[in-house]
Amino acid sequence: MREEQLKALLQDMSTEEKIGQLLQVAGTLFGEDSLITGALDYFKITQEELDRTGSILSISGAERLKKVQDACMAKQPHHIPQLFMLDIINGFETIYPVPLAQGATFDPDMAEKLAEMAAREGSAAGIHVTFSPMADLVRDARWGRVMESTGEDSFLNGKMSAAMVRGYQGRNVADKGRMAACVKHFAGYGGAEGGRDYDTVELSERTLRDEYLPAYKEAIDADARLVMTSFNTLNHVPSTGNKWLMKKVLREEMGFDGVLISDYGAVAEMVNHGIAGDEKDAAELALGAGVDIEMMSLAYVRHVEELIAEGRLTMEQVDEACLRVLRLKNELGLFENPYKDADAEDEKALLLCDAHRKLAREAAAESFCLLKNEDGILPLKNQAGEKVAFIGPYSDNHEVFGSWSFPSDASKMVTIRQGVEKAGMEADICFCEGSQMFGADYRLKDGRRFIYDAGKKQPLLDEAIAAAKEADRVVLCLGEHSQQTGEAASRTDITIPEEQMDLLRRVAEVNPNIVTLVFAGRPLELLEVSRLSKAVMMVWFPGCECGNAVADVLFGAKEPGGRLPMSFPYTVAQEPCYYNRFRSGRPNNGTLEQSFVMGYIDQMDRVLYPFGYGMGYTSFSYGPVRLSGDRLGDGQTITATVTLTNTGDREGTETVQLYLTDLFGSVVRPVKQLRGFRRVSLQPGESAEVSFDITPDMLSFYNIDMKYTWEPGTCKVNIAGDSATENSAVFELV
Ligand code: BGC
Repeated sequence: MREEQLKALLQDMSTEEKIGQLLQVAGTLFGEDSLITGALDYFKITQEELDRTGSILSISGAERLKKVQDACMAKQPHHIPQLFMLDIINGFETIYPVPLAQGATFDPDMAEKLAEMAAREGSAAGIHVTFSPMADLVRDARWGRVMESTGEDSFLNGKMSAAMVRGYQGRNVADKGRMAACVKHFAGYGGAEGGRDYDTVELSERTLRDEYLPAYKEAIDADARLVMTSFNTLNHVPSTGNKWLMKKVLREEMGFDGVLISDYGAVAEMVNHGIAGDEKDAAELALGAGVDIEMMSLAYVRHVEELIAEGRLTMEQVDEACLRVLRLKNELGLFENPYKDADAEDEKALLLCDAHRKLAREAAAESFCLLKNEDGILPLKNQAGEKVAFIGPYSDNHEVFGSWSFPSDASKMVTIRQGVEKAGMEADICFCEGSQMFGADYRLKDGRRFIYDAGKKQPLLDEAIAAAKEADRVVLCLGEHSQQTGEAASRTDITIPEEQMDLLRRVAEVNPNIVTLVFAGRPLELLEVSRLSKAVMMVWFPGCECGNAVADVLFGAKEPGGRLPMSFPYTVAQEPCYYNRFRSGRPNNGTLEQSFVMGYIDQMDRVLYPFGYGMGYTSFSYGPVRLSGDRLGDGQTITATVTLTNTGDREGTETVQLYLTDLFGSVVRPVKQLRGFRRVSLQPGESAEVSFDITPDMLSFYNIDMKYTWEPGTCKVNIAGDSATENSAVFELV
């Protein structure tokens, strides 16, 4: 449809019909064949309201969605098609590593390919919009949702989020296999106090603008068609009713012209926040702030007409929101083809197809972060006579996909046991569970209960100890449960459950040659794990190709390619402990031999493993940083170069990282900030010159007058393999 036709359609619609387009409800309200009334009681929506709904979330399947589409369109006075939206976070059916693990790849091209694959599968299953990427900056490992972000650095988040948007949307969201992306959660959701989900966020405007907004902006600049509001309050105002944030910052400054959708129930939640007296006030606040679609609460459909009659909202506001929704439907081509790509045959051919599995496998290996590798215990030898015991609750576990993969089938995930057995082992391998996941009954966040069986503990342990005694090497497969991360899964304790730690301790008593694989959706406390293991590797939640990717990496067919996207603390008490903190007047040198310095007296001011850190199977050396000049002015570029050499004896890929520091500013600046990265592959003995161009805008920030600019002064360039290593040169910004 042309824009004039859309406007004519809008003009022809009744007010009720327009407001209906602004409501999104869950697909659980719809039966397999048509609309049902049974579930209506639960959500307290009337059949008439449901019939006018403009979009639906959380159902999928080509045949099913076609039926729902037909049934809904038949009831709409203008037969306007529904938008189907779903959280496709790390794959639709072919589940790949969780976003935090994708962050670990430092590989936006990979993130783009993965998103493209997810869009291909999801659109074949009838989905038009994915609620991804999550561009939230995350700095506190206690927050369960760090798993859904690409980590603690806004620059990395921006590159990864933009890549995901490109992957989902392609050049045109109407194209086959593409879908619209929704950037979330605007804004600052990751800043929840104490890492408690849904809690207050209090950020200075400077920190918000300097640190939190850039990643959303980059995803919006990549043309994401939707943005989702966040649940949190930002400086005392819930985002969903924050006019300044939505109208001034998002629309005016960032130039976002797509659809703004609330998070789940977030409009009505403003009543709980105490900023709206009732849902009617909430509707006024949200629509007044420019929120186009209300997800899963009924404030708009129940109250907007009345609010217009009372002069508290205007018809123009409704028209504006409705037109945006219609435009999105039009951009997706739904007026011409309301099913878009929904196709049962395509679904069969694409979902979990070999090519998709292959990519998921590659991505998983690229996301694994090797944190310790004493005596070069990894890669393991796959040779006759070598005995390897795989022990732990993750050694043969299908639940390795993170917490957002509901359309997928866990039984189709390749477990470590399946992957290793299939890999054609020369070595003598065995598998045992070793321990249960937890040491007591545990309520998982999805409502399931893990039931502890005390009687199993000793037999499991005996079997594991016997296997460990026999083995040359032990691979311990441990970690948090996938339902201990994600939304509503914040933890005060970021350790591997004690039952599994107990197993590790007992195994270490009989065999020192331990490789520990850690499954997690967040940084964990790994000090003891690291002390008791020769090798430690984060495998995160790697998705459906878990076992194959683990076999590839453990036995050396591939090297682990990941670098940490978040700092790993010694103890949870250090959280948040991100690398790019502000400079203190009493700097801490990282030892305990100091007084009256910033930090704690009982904990060194260091982290166990810093942001950007990780190893492959070879080693690299960095030459000194060479600059093409020592003065940088407006419109100019300095090139910073290092010579990188593969000093080991196998081919490998290094993630070279560029950090910049503005040494003096009108406001205090971070100690360093990531401003570039590149993955470089080299043969043994080979060297390469790795260069980054530096321009003044890479050092811009909100200065003392809240002006976004760079300031003259001395700056430091650091090029290294992680955020803690110093390899620097200085230049003058003039
Ligand atoms: C989450 C969003 C998600 C939405 C829809 C909310 O609870 O915060 O991230 O997209 O549900 O499932």
